[in-house]
Amino acid sequence: MEKIKIHRVLIVRDTIVIREPKASSFEIFSNSLYYKLVFLLCFFMFILINKTYCQSTVDEWIAPKTADALINPIGGLRIPPVAKQLFVSNCAPCHGDKGKGDGPVGMSLTPKPYNLTKSKVENETDGSLFWRITNGHQTMPTFQNTLSAMERWQLVNYIRSLQADAIELEKPKSKK
Ligand code: HEC
Repeated sequence: MEKIKIHRVLIVRDTIVIREPKASSFEIFSNSLYYKLVFLLCFFMFILINKTYCQSTVDEWIAPKTADALINPIGGLRIPPVAKQLFVSNCAPCHGDKGKGDGPVGMSLTPKPYNLTKSKVENETDGSLFWRITNGHQTMPTFQNTLSAMERWQLVNYIRSLQADAIELEKPKSKK
């Protein structure tokens, strides 16, 4: 099919002048290499921004440095009996009674609740765990308003005791 070109017709002092249509400035721009480069650049910028911002905030849960500096007021492994009760009623539905991340509610969640006895969690500071329990993330709820600060610290200690139990159970010949 033949393309129809629209010519500009001008009447200059009784003579008819027919001009070739001019390419619009957008046409020139879109055909140029410059345009392709700008497009590619935007595309890569988009991917880069997506990667740096979305991944770090949505997937990874990084505690701030200030959390590590928090001092556990009931340090050591003192676990009041109430801590177990707090864990069973608030956390076990997702994290499981032994903190292995296998609670009945947790099964249906994405992301899955953490196994709190894994070395990743074990290597975190008390302050970081306290901060996580306080703030929550994605499907992990915040406990800032439902549990007092002291109760949250008791839970940190209780998580430590679950980690100690898990190590004990992993030892091949240890008696229970
Ligand atoms: C509704 C389910 C749910 C409940 C209830 C829940 N958690 Fe979680 N928890 C999660 C999920 C899911 C994650 C992983 C969140 C993420 O990575 O975004 C998580 C992560 C954590 C982490 C972070 C582990 C780490 O160091 O990276 C800690 C600590 C934790 N939970 C402790 C608790 C404690 C203590 C309670 C009870 C007070 C509790 N959770 C109650 C679902 C739950």
